[in-house]
Amino acid sequence: MGHKGISVTGLVCGVAFFFLLPLHSAYGDVSYSFPEEMKRGSVIGNIAKDLGLEASRLSARNARVDTEGNRKRYCDINLSTGDFIVAERVDREELCGEKMSCILRFDLVLESPLELHRISLQIQDINDNTPIFPKDTIKLEIAESAFKGARFRVNAAHDADIGQNAVQSYTLQRNDHFALSVQTTVAGSKYGELVLDKELDREQQQELKLLLTAVDGGTPQRSGTVVIHVTVLDANDNAPVFNQAVYKASLPENSPLGTLVLTVSSTDADEGMNGEVTYEFSRMSDKTRKVFTLNHVTGEMTVAGALDYEDESKYEMFIEGKDGYGLSSDTKVIIDITDVNDNAPVIYLQSLTNPIPENASPGTEVGIINVQDRDSENNRQVRCSIQQNVPFKLVPSIKNYYSLVTTGELDRELVSDYNITITATDEGSPPLSSSKSVQLSVADVNDNPPVFEEQSYKAHVTENNNPGSSVCSVTARDPDWRQNGTVIYSLLPGEVNGVPVSSFLSVNGETGVIHAVRSFDYEQFRSFKVHVVARDNGSPPLSSNVTVSVFITDVNDNSPQILYPAPEGNSFMTELVPKAAHGGSLVSKVIAVDADSGQNAWLSYHIVKSTDPGLFTIALHSGEIRTQRDISESHSMKQNLIVSVKDNGQPSHSATCTMYLVISDNLAEVPELKDLSYDESNSKLTSYLIIALVSVSTFFLTFIIVILAVRFCRRRKLLFDGAVAIPSAYLPPNYAEVDGTGTLQSTYNYDAYLTAGSHTSNFKFIRSYNDNTLPADQTLRKTPIDFAETFDDSDGLMLVFGFEL
Ligand SMILES: *[C@@H]1O[C@H](CO)[C@@H](O)[C@H](O)[C@H]1NC(C)=O
Ligand SMILES: *[C@@H]1O[C@H](CO)[C@@H](O)[C@H](O)[C@H]1NC(C)=O
Ligand SMILES: *[C@@H]1O[C@H](CO)[C@@H](O)[C@H](O)[C@H]1NC(C)=O
Ligand SMILES: *[C@@H]1O[C@H](CO)[C@@H](O)[C@H](O)[C@H]1NC(C)=O
Repeated sequence: MGHKGISVTGLVCGVAFFFLLPLHSAYGDVSYSFPEEMKRGSVIGNIAKDLGLEASRLSARNARVDTEGNRKRYCDINLSTGDFIVAERVDREELCGEKMSCILRFDLVLESPLELHRISLQIQDINDNTPIFPKDTIKLEIAESAFKGARFRVNAAHDADIGQNAVQSYTLQRNDHFALSVQTTVAGSKYGELVLDKELDREQQQELKLLLTAVDGGTPQRSGTVVIHVTVLDANDNAPVFNQAVYKASLPENSPLGTLVLTVSSTDADEGMNGEVTYEFSRMSDKTRKVFTLNHVTGEMTVAGALDYEDESKYEMFIEGKDGYGLSSDTKVIIDITDVNDNAPVIYLQSLTNPIPENASPGTEVGIINVQDRDSENNRQVRCSIQQNVPFKLVPSIKNYYSLVTTGELDRELVSDYNITITATDEGSPPLSSSKSVQLSVADVNDNPPVFEEQSYKAHVTENNNPGSSVCSVTARDPDWRQNGTVIYSLLPGEVNGVPVSSFLSVNGETGVIHAVRSFDYEQFRSFKVHVVARDNGSPPLSSNVTVSVFITDVNDNSPQILYPAPEGNSFMTELVPKAAHGGSLVSKVIAVDADSGQNAWLSYHIVKSTDPGLFTIALHSGEIRTQRDISESHSMKQNLIVSVKDNGQPSHSATCTMYLVISDNLAEVPELKDLSYDESNSKLTSYLIIALVSVSTFFLTFIIVILAVRFCRRRKLLFDGAVAIPSAYLPPNYAEVDGTGTLQSTYNYDAYLTAGSHTSNFKFIRSYNDNTLPADQTLRKTPIDFAETFDDSDGLMLVFGFEL
């Protein structure tokens, strides 16, 4: 039934906009024509097809039909088929009155991207109204003197329909006196005139009743009738004549009640009753009747109801002037209502993306706003703006549509809600404005990684700690929302000295508290580093890591280790003290080390027991044993000293050793020497073996000693100096090295071979006081020659140190 047509001008405008606003890709106009009074759901046309849109995407693109103003939505779109359908009863007469063309305009709005299509719907008239005469009966008073051919105008019938469906003709019931002549006014409406065909004779017939029928041109035809009641009177020659054929007035819409619109006047050439004219409205719509009143006597027309330009901008009516005997004529009155800026713009929020993700790029369309002003011309020109301090702007789009777009980066962590006030002002004078507030929230995006409160963390743990004890705690903050800001801690897999870090530490995922998994040993390692990762729960998650350095602090958990002399029973060590030694002579030295560090490794030496108290002293810190007095014959040849070595820890640990001294110039003088180192706890067999060995050795040594005796005696003093040099060189060089933190370097193993050629016994000291195989920071390998040089001045003495890791 409907026919369509796509307007080219719309497309041209669209192209113009296209360059300004790439957001709005294309749009066109489509127009339909459809009869009024069609039942709800009737399909007018298929918009999707006519505009080349995909019907299946209509729903997703939030397609909707907007009507201007707050008018009823007469039509709608079926989102599943794309059909443009009738949504409510359309009454052309109610909508457009007598206007010839009745067009409803709609906007079809589609989002993402915003598209606007104009739809115009021409409402076709159907013949649904019957011609109606203003009154049931028309009273005419005609003087008997009226000549043949005299014309008497009869009020026209009114048919709300237009064109062919309006009144087309009149028929008069057959009668003896009158014929009917149908006239057309300037305005185009038709009325009938009774034409006197045969003179009346009041004396013969005082009254006549005629039936006048008005018919319209619709199919089926409709008709209305009126009874014309003719009273035959005595002579009245002239009908009133209006001064103007058409009266026109213009009236602002805000005119108060009682405002004089215009005055109609007519003159009647007759005198007396025959010349007295009264006025009344003849044909007018019900709407008009409520708005104006007419003074019957003066012909003054005044405002009696509220005028509204937006409702009705033009009124047309007929006023009949009638003299005392019923001769009448009428005139047309046209009243134009002029617009006054009495309607503020109305802002409609057509769509809003709320919340908007914070990573929306600048220029993202957030909402669509439509502004309407019911006034006309300048009064409906509207400017729209929003406040300055928000990262949004309004971009004028099609017609009175605006896009609300972002102008900058959003950051939920800075501003999470916006209160956007849109103000619309028209260009009337004075201008009217209105505003609307739009609440917009910013949705979180996981754009912040957790950040640790500190650049790096340091923890100090005392060694021998309990497994499970807490070491320190790390904290990271993430300002994102909910799970995007929830921080989970974990250890970064890694190794410390080849052992996975997870076997050293564990971190509580929620609190960031770091626990020791095992007990640490300062002597194994003094510090290590782990990396803790803080990860948020977003998808994808963001993370950052931090270094946690764990420093293990020393506890005095190692006793001093005596290197020289070797612990009791392990070897044969005897120091010779020359008989001629004077008081203060250096006799020997106790060498001890402590695996701890600092105070815990600060050793002090004491003689706890001696054969001859007071004969020997030991230096508190160096462990050097010296004679206190001159040696005399009275002193026992064998002197045993029990030396205790104590560290300075809290509590302190100690170790003891026995130092065997023989006051003699010659080992040969010491027959019981073997007893000195005789270990009574040895088994008998071992004892015998040792005795045999010692005997052979002694014999062999004696032989060598004899050979060397001369030289030995000559350089005796030197020998003792050399002997003194032993202990000082005995300390592995590594022990003297101190690292940056003031603690001794890591441990090492070493073998020490000591050959004292002047002594009757060789001794080899092999000791590993740290069985752990942890690699040391550095590799030390000193060639034997280096050490030999150290002792160059003592001919008979050679030290060989081999340091191994
Ligand atoms: C849209 O059209 C389909 C198919 O003709 C129909 O089933 C459906 O009821 C219609 N929807 C509306 C809202 O009219
Ligand atoms: C937003 O602005 C409107 C009008 O200025 C005000 O009434 C409302 O309270 C504001 N809302 C917020 C959350 O600031
Ligand atoms: C977290 O961020 C993601 C995007 O990174 C977003 O889709 C999600 O909605 C956010 N979660 C919350 C609770 O805001
Ligand atoms: C740890 O953080 C640094 C920079 O802070 C980064 O370069 C490195 O990739 C991160 N490591 C891991 C495993 O995340």
